[in-house]
Amino acid sequence: MTRTVYVNGEYLPETEAKVSIFDRGFLFADGVYEVTSVLNGKLIDFAGHAKRLDRSLTELEMKRPISTEDLLEVHRELVSRNGLTEGLIYLQITRGAPGDRDFAFPPEETEPTVVLFTQAMPGLEASPKAKTGLKIVSVEDLRWGRRDIKTVQLLYPSLGKMAAKKAGCDDAWMVEDGVVTEGTSNNAYIVTKAGTIVTRQLSNDILHGITRAAVLRFAREAQMKVEERPFTIAEAQDAAEAFVTSASAFVMPVVEIDGAPVGGGMVGPIATRLREIYLEEMHKAAI
Ligand code: PDD
Repeated sequence: MTRTVYVNGEYLPETEAKVSIFDRGFLFADGVYEVTSVLNGKLIDFAGHAKRLDRSLTELEMKRPISTEDLLEVHRELVSRNGLTEGLIYLQITRGAPGDRDFAFPPEETEPTVVLFTQAMPGLEASPKAKTGLKIVSVEDLRWGRRDIKTVQLLYPSLGKMAAKKAGCDDAWMVEDGVVTEGTSNNAYIVTKAGTIVTRQLSNDILHGITRAAVLRFAREAQMKVEERPFTIAEAQDAAEAFVTSASAFVMPVVEIDGAPVGGGMVGPIATRLREIYLEEMHKAAI
């Protein structure tokens, strides 16, 4: 089936959708994005993603080309036109195509480029990896210093993912100054032997995950102990459990880090419970 995608106000077959070669996203990675999951044909935490998009645009002094209400409408229209029941919606906004290459920002009247498309992922919720867990390798975090902004500069995370694949693993955790920042496309957590959930505190060093915010809220509501602080790879390898969160993985257990089994190499009860709670609550709140 040819997907219908959205480009600058138009719904088009993917084969006819085009963006200029002068687009700032293409030439400078001058763009921001969001990924929202769809379960049972409904959007998961749309409000959270819309709010972070606003923040990313503001931080980069980019125009906001479309209101949240209209954005919601486009998301729903794409779900409907593509018959999407389970998968993701990718949204990207760039600083537009001024018609030439220039390091300086384009003239005020340059319209941002807005692109959205769906990715069907049958079995996203029932992923078998949730039962077996992920294997992780660690890599040095060599990204820029504003990781709190969700930009499309994803080359380094992509290299991290490839390093993991080459090592026969699923993903990479990035390490800076001896402590874990986050995964290539997810936030990273451990559960100590005393049962405390530990994840790095929010700062410019990591993306402020929308799933992270929800999961920590649900954990606290369930009387689980949460500590927001950095941790090392050695502490993670010695932890009772480890897991990651993201809009596409929800809560996903980690069972091996740099070749060392975590929690005996088995998926742990806290990650499993948090995944259940997260999905249950998100199904209820989906729009
Ligand atoms: N990635 N950290 C990084 C570096 C990310 O790229 C992501 C999301 C997260 C988790 O954020 P959230 O819970 O809001 O999805 C953390 C998306 C899924 C992606 O790039 O596909």
